[in-house]
Amino acid sequence: MSVLIAPSILSADFAALGNAVAAAERGGADLIHVDVMDGHFVPNITIGPPVVRSLKKIATVPLDVHLMIEEPDRYIDAFAEAGAAMISVHVEVLPHLHRTVHAIKALGAKAGVVLNPSTPVASLTDIAADVDYVLVMSVNPGFGGQTFIPRSESKLREVRALLDRAGSGAPIEIDGGIDQHNVARVVAAGAGIIVAGSAVFHSADPERATRDLKAAANGATASSASSR
Ligand code: DX5
Ligand code: ZN
Repeated sequence: MSVLIAPSILSADFAALGNAVAAAERGGADLIHVDVMDGHFVPNITIGPPVVRSLKKIATVPLDVHLMIEEPDRYIDAFAEAGAAMISVHVEVLPHLHRTVHAIKALGAKAGVVLNPSTPVASLTDIAADVDYVLVMSVNPGFGGQTFIPRSESKLREVRALLDRAGSGAPIEIDGGIDQHNVARVVAAGAGIIVAGSAVFHSADPERATRDLKAAANGATASSASSR
């Protein structure tokens, strides 16, 4: 299966989000990644359901909404209703993660769970069979443009092994510091969905950056398959 590219609009010009989404889609974006931050769970504040609703009107690919907020249970129905096709929540804020995952699914969205860099993979053990995808943070969430944390690569392998043991084929999304230079390595380590913010929207040509990233990600799949 080909690797999916999810450009993150966090690094786009918020006064021209429609143009940003259109450019990413022309470049072959498979999803649009939307970073929701509340100023509590993470130090930054970004956007809420009204913006997702507007994006839904213009995006032709599914919206992948990453909730970096405390008390996500209070907002998942608003994001689903606004048009999120995928909703991911952080394990660090959810004592009743099983309930939240099933609530997201009941709203008709795919349910993802997110691990911060310091959160152990073992925290997924009892939810692995229930999730539609796992998001591995490869930076501390809150800002675009940070440097990839190298430990994330072995963490991807650990998450893949855990999902396999649970009998789950759920893909793993990687988020933070991904660019043309390291995308092949994270794909080889098991990432199936690639989030990229600054690598796409801080480039001179976001359409081309998306296309190049997708080619590099999928070239990695092809070469690792042919070397087996
Ligand atoms: C960070 C966000 C990311 C961010 C990634 O907290 O979750 O999605 O947009 O940006 P880059 O790709 O620049 O690291
Ligand atoms: Zn994100």
